Amino acid sequence: MAISVRPIGPDDLPDVTRVLTGSWGGSTVVALGRGELVDAAELPGFIAESGDEVAGLVTYAVGEGAVEIITIDAVLPGKGVGRALLDAVRTVAAERGVTRLSLLTTNDNTHALRFYQRYGFDLVALHRNAVDRARALKPGIPAESDGIPIRHELELELLLEER
Ligand SMILES: CC(C)(COP(=O)(O)OP(=O)(O)OC[C@H]1O[C@@H](n2cnc3c(N)ncnc32)[C@H](O)[C@@H]1OP(=O)(O)O)[C@@H](O)C(=O)NCCC(=O)NCCS
Repeated sequence: MAISVRPIGPDDLPDVTRVLTGSWGGSTVVALGRGELVDAAELPGFIAESGDEVAGLVTYAVGEGAVEIITIDAVLPGKGVGRALLDAVRTVAAERGVTRLSLLTTNDNTHALRFYQRYGFDLVALHRNAVDRARALKPGIPAESDGIPIRHELELELLLEER
């Protein structure tokens, strides 16, 4: 399967909203770690395509010294889409001279934890009960996934070499 990745453009809003809604119940997500609601559809990002089909999506925010991945979703999982999307964000960070990629995931998301660590991310912090606080902002966050209570945030980073 040939995957192409390109920056999200204004015409992609319906697809972006559809993918985010399918994964997160809407385009508004709690930016983990910041404890605030963010409309991910308004963020910069990349869209992955397989032919005419949307294969995945990543959104990010450029902060002080780090590019933070806000959402990443592979519509077609296990085919290299997630890796290709991370590669694209990594390139943006490098172009801007930013040497740190950061993200947060939740304690239940063992698949994502595996994926990020295999990519090269390292765990740097545990934010205990942070999802309980996020639920106050977005009550639709499920209580559990795969039989695991969703409670905590795990912070990961990938340090990039300075150019
Ligand atoms: C986490 C997530 C983004 C990973 O994306 P993905 O596209 O499945 O990841 P990749 O395909 O790049 O990598 C997964 C596996 O596929 C393999 N793969 C890579 N290219 C491949 C290809 N062309 N054909 C088949 N498999 C391939 C990778 O090697 C990897 O396998 P490994 O872990 O055994 O090395 C995806 O599972 C997802 O969308 N999850 C739901 C949303 C979510 O939890 N997001 C994260 C929130 S923090």
